[in-house]
Amino acid sequence: MNILLTGATGYIGNLLKEKLLQDESVCLRLFVRNAAKVELPAGRKVEVCEGSTFDKDSLRKALKGMDVAYYLIHSMGAKGDFEELDRTSAENFREACIKARVKRIIYLGGLGRKETASKHLLSRIETGEILSSQPTRIQTIWFRAGIIIGTGSASFRIIHSLVRKLPLIVTPRWVHTRTQPIAVQNVLDYLFLAKDLKIQGNLMVDVGSERMSFKEMLERAAHVMGRRRLLIPVPVLSPRLSSYWLILFSPVSYRIARALVDGLKSETIIQNDNARLYFPQVTLLSYEKAVEAALSEGKAK
Ligand SMILES: NC(=O)c1ccc[n+]([C@@H]2O[C@H](COP(=O)([O-])OP(=O)(O)OC[C@H]3O[C@@H](n4cnc5c(N)ncnc54)[C@H](OP(=O)(O)O)[C@@H]3O)[C@@H](O)[C@H]2O)c1
Repeated sequence: MNILLTGATGYIGNLLKEKLLQDESVCLRLFVRNAAKVELPAGRKVEVCEGSTFDKDSLRKALKGMDVAYYLIHSMGAKGDFEELDRTSAENFREACIKARVKRIIYLGGLGRKETASKHLLSRIETGEILSSQPTRIQTIWFRAGIIIGTGSASFRIIHSLVRKLPLIVTPRWVHTRTQPIAVQNVLDYLFLAKDLKIQGNLMVDVGSERMSFKEMLERAAHVMGRRRLLIPVPVLSPRLSSYWLILFSPVSYRIARALVDGLKSETIIQNDNARLYFPQVTLLSYEKAVEAALSEGKAK
């Protein structure tokens, strides 16, 4: 199977690259903006194509002969209007896949409903809609995940730092919002298996483990880390102040902290049962096991 992987210099794409490389039946091609950033294991042949989704010619070359294309890209870090960039990027990608006769696009976006979504999440939803808008010409499997538990995830880095540094954690109102975190290992399981799934037409797959609030995530992570933490509710703390408060104690930028706080203003709960129906072989890790795995992965680095 010829596979094009985008986002291989990013968090999820880099991990998926490692997993795909373990499959002998996969012939992998990476599509990256800067080939010097790619870490390649010795002994496995991987083709690296340099380009950008804003450069249609580079997309055309990269997609030639591909069966499946993973779309693990977003424009949040870019200067300018990230929503417009995300739209153009997805449109260019879908059209180039159609022209190259790619059979399937696999995309990972965010969990949540359009009516209550933050700007960032809305853009992830729009990206999925654009990629999957031509079902007769190209099939799309669209995964939607909430908070991912793993060392490279900004949300997990925030949880980890708060628990590690603060004996008393103030809890703004948004910590009560319910979400369904998922271990990064499980996200990779789904993405990996999706390339071989025998289905017709598009599919949307919401993925997540147990339902819990952000407050519970903090408490249960503290337990795994062997810390006793006192959570103190504060009646009013604006999203802006909450975000400043988060960056004081965690290694993320204001932009990332704000995206998390805005995202937690509304519930991110799975809305379909397709993960269980189409991927029964995936065993979901409990939240505690996911935190343990992320902590030991962090120590190993
Ligand atoms: N991380 C999470 O916790 C999480 C949770 C839920 C859903 N997701 C979804 O998973 C997907 C991947 O997220 P991530 O966390 O892995 O992102 P990430 O670490 O920020 O990586 C983004 C990747 O996209 C590449 N990229 C950006 N613009 C590009 C362009 N125009 N052309 C080619 N490549 C481009 C970047 O390349 P450079 O290295 O050159 O910048 C980078 O490799 C996203 O759709 C995200 O919404 C992530």
